[in-house]
Amino acid sequence: MSFNWPVGINATKEKLGEQFDNLHLDTRISASHAKPLSNIDPVVTPIYHSSTYRFKTVQQFNEHNHGSNFVYRRCGNPTTENVEVVINEIEKGAGTLVYNSGLAAISAVFLEFLHSGAHLITMAPIYSGTSSFINETLKRFGVEVTFVNVETETNFADAIEKAIRPNTKMIYFETIANPSMAVPDIIGTLKIAKKHQIKSCVDATFSSPYNIQPITLGADFSLHSCSKYIGGHTDVIAGCVTTKSYDDWKALKLQQLTTGSSLSPYDAALLTRGLKTLALRVDRISQNAQKISEYLEAHQKVQQVFYPGLKSHPGHKFAAETMKQFAGMIAFDLGTAQNAINFIESLHIIVHAVSLGGTESLIEHPYSMSHGAQLLRDPTGATVSPGLLRFSVGIENVDDIIADLEQSLNKL
Ligand SMILES: Cc1ncc(COP(=O)(O)O)c(C=O)c1O
Repeated sequence: MSFNWPVGINATKEKLGEQFDNLHLDTRISASHAKPLSNIDPVVTPIYHSSTYRFKTVQQFNEHNHGSNFVYRRCGNPTTENVEVVINEIEKGAGTLVYNSGLAAISAVFLEFLHSGAHLITMAPIYSGTSSFINETLKRFGVEVTFVNVETETNFADAIEKAIRPNTKMIYFETIANPSMAVPDIIGTLKIAKKHQIKSCVDATFSSPYNIQPITLGADFSLHSCSKYIGGHTDVIAGCVTTKSYDDWKALKLQQLTTGSSLSPYDAALLTRGLKTLALRVDRISQNAQKISEYLEAHQKVQQVFYPGLKSHPGHKFAAETMKQFAGMIAFDLGTAQNAINFIESLHIIVHAVSLGGTESLIEHPYSMSHGAQLLRDPTGATVSPGLLRFSVGIENVDDIIADLEQSLNKL
């Protein structure tokens, strides 16, 4: 039989020779490790959980890029670098950084590119965590803020331009606003930012990176809560920022080393796995959501439906000119809070939970859950209708989702 599979080599023993055998057992256990194969190239990047990396010489440590090595997990890791490479490929930027949450990514951009006395123009409504960071942290550090309402301004880009001051340093907005699904004039706003040489940052979480790539449209930063469509399986909290320029990437990278906001390799591996099916999931979800929003719009018990893929949606034009599809977030109004609560509690398949972007359909009642209390203290005066429901469409068979909606609507 010619079975010649080699036994793994103990790298420390190979280096020390006989000297190694003279060491005590406990030391030999501690010092033993398999010598890595020189041509190792796994199809799927492994989870490197080591917090630190061996160096052959002091000189190697001091070489450019530490002689093609990593140093310490907070500063970089092969598993997180792998997911950064994949996201950057989608986003077409200079580089991507992943963070331990979407909000960590958002706050990193604000903290790096704003300062005391700088002015930020942003959108209202905006994700409640982002709005809290702006109102409770940035303002405390002396950043001036103007909110421009995407639901009430007839010309959003124009209103943004009018809000510009000599000290305006950043324009920040979302591609689809939560919970009304309002869509700003993305191209127009990015043009204004460019014209005035102000940095622009786009949170494209609700659209998914598969449907829109803000950097190709002129944004300086594109960011996502990867906890949503990128992870895609409701089992990871993570965020990412992709920059248009390498200088901005370097500034954020240096900041990440000192704030310690990098992503764990376990979560990075979940993101890598999620990304493998991003296209399939987002195609299916977008198709499902289009059919479901049309069904809801035609239903007499539904007062209003907000989905960027509907022609009736006020931001449809802006969504259609920038997005491949319109992803899975639908809001619809059942008139009263009681109707909305009764409806949610009668559903069989659609899960009653916050968050979005996973394979399963999720629904929540913003007025009494994610948005009610927060909006009461929102300085922009944003409101949410008591009968509004926020629905994250999943990958289930669309007929079964519609049947679940139907049976619950019939009970109202
Ligand atoms: C649009 C948007 N941006 C950012 C975030 C924050 O992401 P994370 O929960 O991963 O911190 C969320 C979370 O729901 C969100 O909806």
